[in-house]
Amino acid sequence: MILALQIGGGTIVALALFQLCLGVYSSVAAVFRERRLDARHLQHFNDLAQAALRNAEVDRLKSGTTWAGKRKFRIVEKRVENKCGDICSFYLQPHDGGELPPFLPGQFLTFELPISDQPAPVIRCYSLSDSPSRLDRYRVTIKKLSPPPDAGETVPGGLSSTYFHANLKEGDVVDVQAPKGGFVLDLQSERPVVLIGGGVGLTPVLSMLKALDDAGSHREVHFFHAARSGDDIVLCDEIREIAERRNNVHYRVLYSAPTDACVEGRDYDCPGFLTVDVLKRYLASSNYEFYVCGPPQMMSSLTEQLRDWGVPDSDIHFEAFGPASVKTVKSPASSREAAESVQVEFSRSGKKVSWHEQDGTLLDLAERNGIRVASGCRAGNCGTCATALKKGDVTYVTRPASSPAQGSVLMCIACPGGNVILDA
Ligand SMILES: Cc1cc2nc3c(=O)[nH]c(=O)nc-3n(C[C@H](O)[C@H](O)[C@H](O)COP(=O)(O)OP(=O)(O)OC[C@H]3O[C@@H](n4cnc5c(N)ncnc54)[C@H](O)[C@@H]3O)c2cc1C
Ligand code: FES
Repeated sequence: MILALQIGGGTIVALALFQLCLGVYSSVAAVFRERRLDARHLQHFNDLAQAALRNAEVDRLKSGTTWAGKRKFRIVEKRVENKCGDICSFYLQPHDGGELPPFLPGQFLTFELPISDQPAPVIRCYSLSDSPSRLDRYRVTIKKLSPPPDAGETVPGGLSSTYFHANLKEGDVVDVQAPKGGFVLDLQSERPVVLIGGGVGLTPVLSMLKALDDAGSHREVHFFHAARSGDDIVLCDEIREIAERRNNVHYRVLYSAPTDACVEGRDYDCPGFLTVDVLKRYLASSNYEFYVCGPPQMMSSLTEQLRDWGVPDSDIHFEAFGPASVKTVKSPASSREAAESVQVEFSRSGKKVSWHEQDGTLLDLAERNGIRVASGCRAGNCGTCATALKKGDVTYVTRPASSPAQGSVLMCIACPGGNVILDA
């Protein structure tokens, strides 16, 4: 200002104006800085509130109302989900009109189906495919299984899935066990997450995505959806709608056998099967939590490739739809001489048999020897095959979804760890 006075009036005015502008600028900048700070604080508080809500939700779900044994549910809606018509959703409400207990994203329902030509109810698990926040009805999405392509004409299609598609309709009532399962999204984690659904295996991971969306989570989410083609893919509109609304959610579709009508870039992102090489194209690193559910071949190859990529086992969560396809525990016999066998006694049936590694699980061994053991998922999830172990110990070939009662073992995923006696 002193310098300006010496130079002359015009300059004084210019400098005064300059100073005025500077003053205004710094006040405005301060306001903006404060606002930015406020916005950051608000965001921070919002994040904390969301995290607290999510924690409360997890606690609520863990202590939520549930039921023991089976409960009757009415099918209130049956909806065909794909062009080729082999995948349907079934919406269920409690027949008793009571409350619908919440579930954790990734859990499944166990159905007991009175299929006419079967000696006992057929027990099968189906993942809950909708948002855990929807407490007016449950949804399961079921693929009708055809006989394997190379099977003879006498081989029937899938028992339960055919029954659902061909016999069950709106208004029918089914027996259902409460939601359970350990393949659940960690809602308390803030780490980036990769959700992978192959075929109808998208059901539990879709529920996980919806849970994140409902919680307003800012976690980076990559959803990879693998299907054969546009004729097979299901529920992609629900995922796309979330991805379009949320910057943190990225959705990629892979078709292994796209039809002529499928346009790359419009209907799907990549041709071929989902491999780690495909993941590497879209993910900055391997530092994600992975949740994988899909057909057996995809499950075993992808989980193996993830391990080779350096993803620790603790970050690879998976669920098998059917007989365990991913082995997490070495079979005890693999370290033994091939010729060596152990004795398995089924005390109730009065049978003693030898077990070799090629005999598979104790459930396989029992069935091969004409011993009837009730089973459902054959993957350590539903608990139906739990049997008292009277002597010896077993090793699981895959992690049980939840531990059976003390002293019991899940025969569908257990191999003997030495001579054993089972109450079967
Ligand atoms: C935790 C969990 C969640 C699941 N979630 C879902 C889900 O959300 N959606 C879904 O669709 N599925 C899901 N499943 C799979 C589901 O539980 C059933 O396994 C599936 O529907 C097949 O059951 P099914 O009774 O129809 O077939 P099964 O009767 O068990 O038959 C299976 C296959 O074997 C073939 N077969 C039958 N007899 C023979 C024979 N003699 N020789 C050769 N082949 C034969 C059948 O044709 C069929 O292809 C889930 C499974 C688990 C464990
Ligand atoms: S059959 Fe489901 S846990 Fe064994």
